[in-house]
Amino acid sequence: MSPSLPPGILRMSTPPHEAEGHPVSVNRPAAVVVLAAGEGTRMKSATPKVLHDICGRSLVGHVLAAAGELEPEHLVVVVGHAREQVTAHLAEVAPAVRTAVQERQNGTGHAVRMGLEALGGAVDGTVVVVCGDTPLLTGGTLTALAATHAADGNAVTVLTAEVPDATGYGRIVRDGTGAVTAIVEHKDATEEQRAVREINSGVFAFDGQLLADALGKVRTDNSQGEEYLTDVLGILREAGHRVGACVAVDHREIVGINNRVQLAEARRILNDRLLTRAMLAGVTVVDPATTWVDVTVTFEQDVVVHPGTQLHGATHLAAGAEVGPNARLTDTRVGAGARVDNTVALGAEVGAEASVGPYAYLRPGTRLGVRGKIGTYVETKNASIGEGTKVPHLSYVGDATIGDFTNIGAASVFVNYDGEHKHHTTVGSHCKTGSDNMFVAPVTVGDGAYTAAGSVITKDVPPGSLAVARGQQRNIEGWVARKRPGSAAAKAAEEAVRESGGEG
Ligand code: UD1
Ligand code: MG
Repeated sequence: MSPSLPPGILRMSTPPHEAEGHPVSVNRPAAVVVLAAGEGTRMKSATPKVLHDICGRSLVGHVLAAAGELEPEHLVVVVGHAREQVTAHLAEVAPAVRTAVQERQNGTGHAVRMGLEALGGAVDGTVVVVCGDTPLLTGGTLTALAATHAADGNAVTVLTAEVPDATGYGRIVRDGTGAVTAIVEHKDATEEQRAVREINSGVFAFDGQLLADALGKVRTDNSQGEEYLTDVLGILREAGHRVGACVAVDHREIVGINNRVQLAEARRILNDRLLTRAMLAGVTVVDPATTWVDVTVTFEQDVVVHPGTQLHGATHLAAGAEVGPNARLTDTRVGAGARVDNTVALGAEVGAEASVGPYAYLRPGTRLGVRGKIGTYVETKNASIGEGTKVPHLSYVGDATIGDFTNIGAASVFVNYDGEHKHHTTVGSHCKTGSDNMFVAPVTVGDGAYTAAGSVITKDVPPGSLAVARGQQRNIEGWVARKRPGSAAAKAAEEAVRESGGEG
């Protein structure tokens, strides 16, 4: 049984071994251990490092999504610093994942030991170790690592990369034949070793039994006084086991996040990856630099995304939908051929060929029918607006059901709140409500009814009636001349009367 993937964590691609029809178990690891006990002081944050978000998912959530593609039998996250917060987050996004506690951060080797202990000690089969702060690592790269590890019959295979600047990383030391002999931490490296640009990504595949053995032999006589996981390589090699390496195709995948600058860089890279995938699938992204998407957003073909648009959560844009500029859509479904311009929408559903904005605010529970319209400066909430129905200007529609082919006059308010409770308004189909109407809920306007401009509708309107609910107009003639004699208004009125030949 594989630990089911965390909900909300979608598989990004089919693992190659599955796609090629091989049995899934070939390179399927017994366990993946995710190291996430470190403090992350350089983030300067009340939020634990691995819980920071990029593209709608926590850093550790991205790592779990990639690890999940390996379909390991066990998935363990080693937590330590701020472990209550981290554990609570994991329970929410990845309930099938186990946690192991590392009380004191005594190094990566010690952390893996804690992870294995949580699994009951040594594990038969392959154990993959990854860090919780490498959100760009892909399932594909992990699969390649597991495949190399299995094909070469290694005791340990380290994922490495050639990086432009290796400062701070552990360096890969190879002998004359190119075989990996050791990993030397930056702080412990000689000048010659520091010149090496091939670095340890911190990701490994191990034979589970040999790993457990070797971890027992790791010492702490290094510059940090920690148990280094990296020392396991040398230990295994000296014992005559095969040590190998797998070089990551794209070195940017293995970048670990330590501060907010790297967080922003990683977000940019991941966002570019998501947009590239969307564009290759037939989405026009007018300005990738100002378009931001979450990993969970989905698109159909011929969608157009204009500049300054942010798409979050379970947002889905159907074929030919056009969104932006400057739209922020969260958990919103936009129907085929619909147009959403300069809009903020949350938990809304926009029908096919409907039109929204510019400057609309769609709040949760908004459902706009096919070819409907929610126009400029309109706010909606928990409102079902039927097919072809229009709410074009300056209105608030809250807690309402409006039928099909109805027109709501400008500057109308669905008065849903009496100060204590919310009430519902129903407006039928083929209605024409006047401008500046207040619908004081609970109230119903029947099918085909009209309402006069400026009406405060407090009583139900029967189908086909005209409701007029406003004060009668009274003109007090000559008032300006009497009360504001000599004013510009008085003179203008006098002039108008003279021109029309009247007496005044
Ligand atoms: C580590 C590697 C280094 C590699 C680099 C890649 C070692 C000794 N060094 O260095 O070779 O180039 O990663 O980014 O392994 N962690 C724990 N418990 C601990 C210590 C660390 O869970 O006691 C976790 C951290 O939360 C982090 C990961 O292990 O997710 C790596 O730890 P970190 O301190 O960042 O290691 P580096 O010094 O970067
Ligand atoms: Mg460190």
